[in-house]
Amino acid sequence: MEKSPGKKNTAVFISGRGSNLKSLIKYSKTKKSLIRIVLVVSDNLSAKGLIYANKSKINNIVIKYSNRKTFEGRLLKLLKRNNVDLICLAGFMKILSGKFIKQFYKPILNIHPSLLPKYKGLNTHNRAIQNKDKYSGATVHIVNHKLDSGKIILQKKVKILKTDSEKSLAKKVLKIEHKIYSKAIIKLLASD
Ligand code: GAR
Repeated sequence: MEKSPGKKNTAVFISGRGSNLKSLIKYSKTKKSLIRIVLVVSDNLSAKGLIYANKSKINNIVIKYSNRKTFEGRLLKLLKRNNVDLICLAGFMKILSGKFIKQFYKPILNIHPSLLPKYKGLNTHNRAIQNKDKYSGATVHIVNHKLDSGKIILQKKVKILKTDSEKSLAKKVLKIEHKIYSKAIIKLLASD
């Protein structure tokens, strides 16, 4: 894959619905976009998000996760072949090893549906509601060897109302996610 001047060759990793992928594709098509999505990877054959990659004719591949070593070995080869400079995890539900992160040696971003460092891992909305938090939100951070613990690039809050359910909160947070992912990319790459 050729490099496009001024734009970072980007791979987006997904596992499911792909609404964040959809918003990243939309951003990548804007005139001022700093990224070019050259590859979409899914660990799940039935990920709905693959539809968005196909619609936009973006090279996409499903890599079945049999074991970490084989999976990550295949990923690294693929990333190299496609000259990938940046990985964006967008609802990608596998944990990448420290070894993979070191070997890739370029930035990996993740979007997480909570105000990190609060609620790493799963069930973030339920935990925020159970704890009677006043706010939740979304965070874009650099991926390091510890789950949901890398440097925070951008974070945005939403208010949790007394009437909010897990579902309504997830919907509000997702809306925020779609806004902040591209902003975080701009922030990260502007400091390049
Ligand atoms: C998003 O809410 C994202 O923040 C979350 O999964 C959802 C994926 O939605 N990611 C994580 O929980 C990762 N720890 P999408 O497939 O529609 O983008």
